[in-house]
Amino acid sequence: MLGGGNLTRVVRIGSTVRRTAGAWTPMVHELLDHLRGTDFDLAPEALGIDEQGREVLSYLPGDTVADRPWPRWLWHDDLLVQAAEALARYHRAVAGYRPAVVSSRLGTTVLGAGDVVCHNDFAPYNCTFSAGRLTGVFDWDLVCAAPPLHDLAQLVWQWLPLHAPCEELAWRTPEGTARRLRLLLHAYGTDDTCRLDDAGRFVEAVIDRVEATRTGILQRAADGEEVFRRLEREGHTEDMARAVDFIRSIRPTLEGAVLRPR
Ligand SMILES: Nc1ncnc2c1ncn2[C@@H]1O[C@H](COP(=O)(O)OP(=O)(O)O)[C@@H](O)[C@H]1O
Ligand SMILES: [Mg+2]
Repeated sequence: MLGGGNLTRVVRIGSTVRRTAGAWTPMVHELLDHLRGTDFDLAPEALGIDEQGREVLSYLPGDTVADRPWPRWLWHDDLLVQAAEALARYHRAVAGYRPAVVSSRLGTTVLGAGDVVCHNDFAPYNCTFSAGRLTGVFDWDLVCAAPPLHDLAQLVWQWLPLHAPCEELAWRTPEGTARRLRLLLHAYGTDDTCRLDDAGRFVEAVIDRVEATRTGILQRAADGEEVFRRLEREGHTEDMARAVDFIRSIRPTLEGAVLRPR
């Protein structure tokens, strides 16, 4: 059993992993198949369903950073740039993939104009690393139809990072955070699919992203879903509320970085 995940039981068997499958699995495998024909080469290969009904994916070698404390190397600028470039490469790769319905473990969504199939949780805890390089991205079954900004906001939250202040992030300053945001936006690149000209709206999108995650967990916990109740018990939703306060507190600095991305 591989550690680190919250929602899925994952076991490794040789060069494969086996994950709980569901109604969403055929579409997720179709997406992974689509990606194999593109230059986004960080996703696992979909290898079908095993005799126990679990999905079979190629095992991505490397280190994972699911459990805190985070290693200090995780926050190197170079890795931030790699993550932003990887997300941009993913968004370009997925642009031509337009399923009628986007199925995920959280339900279904439908692509509107300007939407892409977003990964929806493009964060360090869903990546593999080797010698300071980003080598893989897993956990593809939360995908949703949304504008690329949806994933970009998650990247900003999780990878800048914009977590609530804590001892582990004591090195972080508002100016340093703004500098990393400029770096991230430059590496991602901005074009018509993700316009950043309205700095206030961009920071609001990041706040909305954290808030929507927080209220989504609380809603599912209230509905009695055990994993979400555990996330709430473990303090994740409180952390998110504190992250929102933190983002608001440095908002002008962040907006300045968005206005001058280079
Ligand atoms: N394709 C993969 N290759 C290597 N490890 C994987 C792969 N998929 C999942 N894992 C491992 O299993 C753990 C949980 O998987 P994940 O897909 O993130 O599930 P969850 O939905 O619970 O977050 C990850 O932290 C990672 O260690
Ligand atoms: Mg995960």
